[in-house]
Amino acid sequence: MTADNGAEAQPDGGAAVPVITIDGPSGTGKGTLAARLAAHLGWYCLDSGALYRVLGLAAGRDGIDLDDETALAGLAANLGIGFAAGRVLLEGEDLGDLIRTETAGLAASRVAVHPMVRAALLDWQRRQVRPPGLVADGRDMGTLVFSRARLKVFLDASAQERAERRYKQLMKKGFNVNLPLLVEAVRQRDARDRDRPVAPLRAAAGAVLVDSTAMSADDVFERVLEEVRRVFPDQFHQVAADANGGGLEAVPG
Ligand code: C5P
Repeated sequence: MTADNGAEAQPDGGAAVPVITIDGPSGTGKGTLAARLAAHLGWYCLDSGALYRVLGLAAGRDGIDLDDETALAGLAANLGIGFAAGRVLLEGEDLGDLIRTETAGLAASRVAVHPMVRAALLDWQRRQVRPPGLVADGRDMGTLVFSRARLKVFLDASAQERAERRYKQLMKKGFNVNLPLLVEAVRQRDARDRDRPVAPLRAAAGAVLVDSTAMSADDVFERVLEEVRRVFPDQFHQVAADANGGGLEAVPG
């Protein structure tokens, strides 16, 4: 399930309905982890980075300067963003991979530095909390947007490793990329996200820190699932041992 506007939303910052936040720098696999956890638990999923990416793209289309905070905040307040079946839509148009490029990531990190822009997107994000639960990934999910979430994860990996992962993904898609330039782009985006005065990237108090530098996506998923079982034992029940050996299974809400 993907988060979107809806009547059942509960803008409580993650107090009553269970919320899991996953924060960390770009390229750590937060999005993959969040989607997998949400699917496993039968919960909703919020990719907050997509909001900033769509805003950067929409600004480009409307000819708005990425330093024009007031104009960007106005655009953010009326952003016709939608999520459907894993796709990100702007005014109903499926944006496909347009928002997943390095350029879109850098534009996102530029619009994301503006306090008025972040304020304009805050309520929308909080309205995505709905039963049976929400998994939200981004930079400030645990520190600010869902500060009352019961499980907060901070996923990290070295800049070199993250750039290498991105390099492999892009090469697979047939793009001709330069690894040292990618490392530099990753470092630049990290610096902008960590050093900005508003909602800087940092681990929330009490967050579980996972360094995925030497871990596979499966290892990370299992590691975080252990924490989910610890914090939300009611979401699981022991299923009878079956032909597959049994195990723990998610029980929607
Ligand atoms: O997570 P993703 O790489 O899609 O995010 C793109 C950019 O959007 C980040 O580099 C960051 O600057 C910004 N962002 C943010 N707060 C979030 C999510 C993303 O500032 N919660």
